[in-house]
Amino acid sequence: MTVAEVICDSPIRGHGRERKPFDLPEEHVMTSSISSVVCGIGAYVPPRVVRNDDPAFSALDTSDEWIRSRTGIIERRWADPGTSTGDLAVRAAERALLNAGDRGVDLVIVTTTTPDHRTPSTAPAVAAQLGLGTVPAFDLGAACGGFLYGLATADVWIRSGAVERVLLIGADTLTTFIDPTDRSTAVIFADGAGAVVLRHGEGTEPGAVHRVRLGSDGALKDLVIVPAGGSRAPDPEVTEGRRRHSVNMQGKQLFQHAVSRMTESSRAVLQDMQWSADSVQAFIGHQANQRILSKVADLVGVSEESRFGNISRVGNTSSASIPLVMNEIDMQPGSKTLLTTFGGGAVWGSAALSWPILTPRKGN
Ligand code: UT7
Repeated sequence: MTVAEVICDSPIRGHGRERKPFDLPEEHVMTSSISSVVCGIGAYVPPRVVRNDDPAFSALDTSDEWIRSRTGIIERRWADPGTSTGDLAVRAAERALLNAGDRGVDLVIVTTTTPDHRTPSTAPAVAAQLGLGTVPAFDLGAACGGFLYGLATADVWIRSGAVERVLLIGADTLTTFIDPTDRSTAVIFADGAGAVVLRHGEGTEPGAVHRVRLGSDGALKDLVIVPAGGSRAPDPEVTEGRRRHSVNMQGKQLFQHAVSRMTESSRAVLQDMQWSADSVQAFIGHQANQRILSKVADLVGVSEESRFGNISRVGNTSSASIPLVMNEIDMQPGSKTLLTTFGGGAVWGSAALSWPILTPRKGN
């Protein structure tokens, strides 16, 4: 079985009852007494703006017109050499902690596909730089699905009672894994970080995470892959050069899978929640391609005014993409919010939450 659809709806502990996944009573969805609740958001993108007509792309057989019309990207942010994923993560996390108004967290999760080092993981260094003490800290790798996989993980830790507060950071410096001579990836991927703070709370509160559905299909692993540098092809055995250490992408096939999986998964979460598509007030998809986002939103039936995105300004920032959008918008607390993603693995996921109560956030 290569396809796994998982509802991350962990059994409730500590309240004298246990539920199996899939048997969630309808009325529970909005009334659960235990939930993770988003209470702070922050984001950071590096200052260097790279427009479609930047000299960095002049050797490529591409054009501003092609990039805009095929992807929706007009400009993106690139980290300067020497700036790592962890550096971006720390800046986004500082802002999220400030926004939350309380620096206390019990767990730090960094979702990334471009960690600072192969080992150790990036999260402990980020936690230390933030002065968070010796809290548990780990990386989670799910490519462009990272943020929703991280959200599900944070949610389960909080619902289990193991922790009260989690700092979840989605951060990537995809430009460090790009072959600058490959036009099919060089113009798309970019750098950034977004972070949220989640706390233990009530399912009826603004900011409550109601539902997360995740899925994967490893049969599609070659559609977007860095072939070398892992245990399957460690560096010394590789002779094919830079291309094998960079992101290789089969865009057309990914496009089709992204549309169908994000659509299915969004519909399933709406069904779980008994939300109609036109009742969704904030729809945020992974910013891979504007055409994918529009298609998914059309198929799901989400209204035009509830679609939010920033791909034109930031490109594809992988794990950072959803929280970067969340950081930019202001919704009425409690607004019905639907997040959806698809990425390398292949992995996908969707989440329903209510928009949190947030103090004003600092822009980039
Ligand atoms: O975030 C993780 C998951 N990633 C995705 O979900 C990405 C999904 N895929 C996509 O966003 C799109 O497939 C791309 C933007 C990557 C490509 O757009 P497309 O409309 O699917 O183009 P295509 O792959 O069908 O290629 C059409 C043509 C090809 O030339 P030929 O074979 O028709 O002569 C490509 O070589 O466009 C060419 N092409 C380019 N032309 C100018 C590919 N990249 C470029 C480029 N500039 N940058």
